[in-house]
Amino acid sequence: MLDESLKSDFPTLKQKINGNELVYLDNAATTQKPEKVIKALESYYRSINSNIHRGVHTLSIRATKAYEEARSKVAAFINAEHREEIIFVRGATEAINLVASSYVRPILKEDDQIIISQMEHHANIVPWQIICEQKKAELKIIPMNVKGELLIEEIEGMISEKTKFISINHVSNSLGTVNRIEDVIKIAHGNNIRIMIDGAQAVQHLSVDLMKLNADFYCFSGHKVYAPTGIGVLYGKKELLEKMPPYQGGGDMIKSVTFEKTIYNDIPNRFEAGTPNIAGAIGLGVAIDYLVSIGIENIAKHEKELLDYATQEIRKIEGVRIIGNAVEKASVLSFVIEEIHPHDIGTILDKQGVAIRTGHHCTQPTMDFYGIPATARASFAIYNSRKDVDTLIKSVKKTIEVFT
Ligand code: ALA
Repeated sequence: MLDESLKSDFPTLKQKINGNELVYLDNAATTQKPEKVIKALESYYRSINSNIHRGVHTLSIRATKAYEEARSKVAAFINAEHREEIIFVRGATEAINLVASSYVRPILKEDDQIIISQMEHHANIVPWQIICEQKKAELKIIPMNVKGELLIEEIEGMISEKTKFISINHVSNSLGTVNRIEDVIKIAHGNNIRIMIDGAQAVQHLSVDLMKLNADFYCFSGHKVYAPTGIGVLYGKKELLEKMPPYQGGGDMIKSVTFEKTIYNDIPNRFEAGTPNIAGAIGLGVAIDYLVSIGIENIAKHEKELLDYATQEIRKIEGVRIIGNAVEKASVLSFVIEEIHPHDIGTILDKQGVAIRTGHHCTQPTMDFYGIPATARASFAIYNSRKDVDTLIKSVKKTIEVFT
């Protein structure tokens, strides 16, 4: 297990909620921020705040350097071959919309198909639906079993010459399943199809090596990796990004503009129109330093131990059913309790200082698959401990008592 003193790096965790110590277990929705990240934001605004790529003055040069260093840190973190393959965006949602709009829409024709999976969150469903509607194309869905594992062996049979793109998540936000993306990437490439992996629930839990994975596009959000909100990353292979039209037009994404013609900038700037989230990118770089200093392998081990312990303990409670029992899981424990609505579970847990997420987790098709409207979801992070799991279990038992 990681050292419990790590919790003291996170100021938000040092508080009482409803008279109880806060036990924060809503990490799949967003993680808390370490002091170092908060200080980096403050320091940016106090000492180097300036616009980037535009100024010859000292502050602008310093801000540009810090922003571009953050890009290099991200590239190293996910082992991208080239730092220009890292595009700063608002988050995973914007990254997927960018790829849908700039890579897939131009190649999509009537009756073509895009493949996603049964366990996607809405950010990896709706952008594809929008372009399918525009181009009269079709969305095909990789099925899953009741444990919450994708039926990878079915993908080959779903592919035809009409299949233009595949996009699936690395880790499911509502079930915790770690998908066998290596296999899916191989199937896609074996059929000459490009593939995007949504890593919003992955990079904070397991090590991601893009040179090894060979995904064409990969994305994640900063706020789920202990960085600020409003910053995220799109990775795209250089040869693909270089051929893609811009997603948004504006300053910094151009080389020259006349009323007759605009020459677009090179990557990555071509995809970063306007003043970007400079402080957010710098904060993301600091969050990555923090994670790397702990070690992703240590984090994975710690969170697995917590998940295994929580799973074992919650299984002992009568009336509780776990939703998502894949063999390979990360961080997420989704469950329902007979006769008690998840929102009531969440409210009673909150009274005891325990923060979990309840609802459909922006995965309504996943909920439909299980025939339920919602689940209660506890999700673990580096600062959680076995004691937090004990409090969760005690609070779940109390909830059942209240309702019986
Ligand atoms: N996608 C985020 C979650 O799973 C918001 O809670």
